[in-house]
Amino acid sequence: MKDLFGRALLDYQNGHYTEDLITSTNISEEDELPLPYLFRDFKDMPKLEKKALQLAKGSILDVGCGAGNHSLYLQKKGFDVKAIDISKGAVEVSKLRGLNNVEVKSLLDETETFDTILLLMNGTGIFQELSQVSKYLTHLKSLLKPNGQILMDSSDIKYMYEDEDGGFWMDAHANYYGELDYYLSYKGEEETPMKWLYLDFDTLKLACETVGLRCELVLEGKHFDYLARLA
Ligand SMILES: C[S@@+](CC[C@H](N)C(=O)[O-])C[C@H]1O[C@@H](n2cnc3c(N)ncnc32)[C@H](O)[C@@H]1O
Repeated sequence: MKDLFGRALLDYQNGHYTEDLITSTNISEEDELPLPYLFRDFKDMPKLEKKALQLAKGSILDVGCGAGNHSLYLQKKGFDVKAIDISKGAVEVSKLRGLNNVEVKSLLDETETFDTILLLMNGTGIFQELSQVSKYLTHLKSLLKPNGQILMDSSDIKYMYEDEDGGFWMDAHANYYGELDYYLSYKGEEETPMKWLYLDFDTLKLACETVGLRCELVLEGKHFDYLARLA
């Protein structure tokens, strides 16, 4: 990984913002991911994220913290927050922005336990593919203190396969439709392609049941997105 995501965050943090990140997937064209959005404060967050922050309690782990927006908000509110991200640049930026407890670490390497675990901005993306969901959920469950909760958002991206006549062009023999190849570039450089998973609520709920987690729909967004609470 070249960590172009982290490099872009560092540029923005250091006042060198000239370009946005460019993303695309195997089923969608290039799109801009505006860097200011990755530095959003509470008032600019989508309602699902605001709701997740309102439900957070006790000791908190923010998985894939990026520039640390959610953790910074909760830290200011006096919560005990730990943030992790595999991007060195993201962790550096989070520290520069004042986050006290933030580490370069992958979710599967985390071992402490928490009252609340947050995975936000398509939190299921980190699971990468459907076949890994049980492994990640089992691990997340092992990081929960008694009565702990996991708050994560995702989307049902079936709409991305809809054609103009309202039909769907999904290949029934292909993998689960929410499994995407994700491409990212910044300032003309291309990141190593990644896998990124979007999970519809019913599939997430079913996966939770198989590992002994309860999965509740907290809130739906405007565009097939939702916030789930796992306990
Ligand atoms: C879409 S960004 C979201 C960033 C942040 N949560 C936000 O809402 O602005 C996903 C983040 O997850 C991180 N990430 C991906 N896989 C991870 C893993 N296995 N463990 C921890 N972080 C991971 C990426 O580096 C990236 O910063």
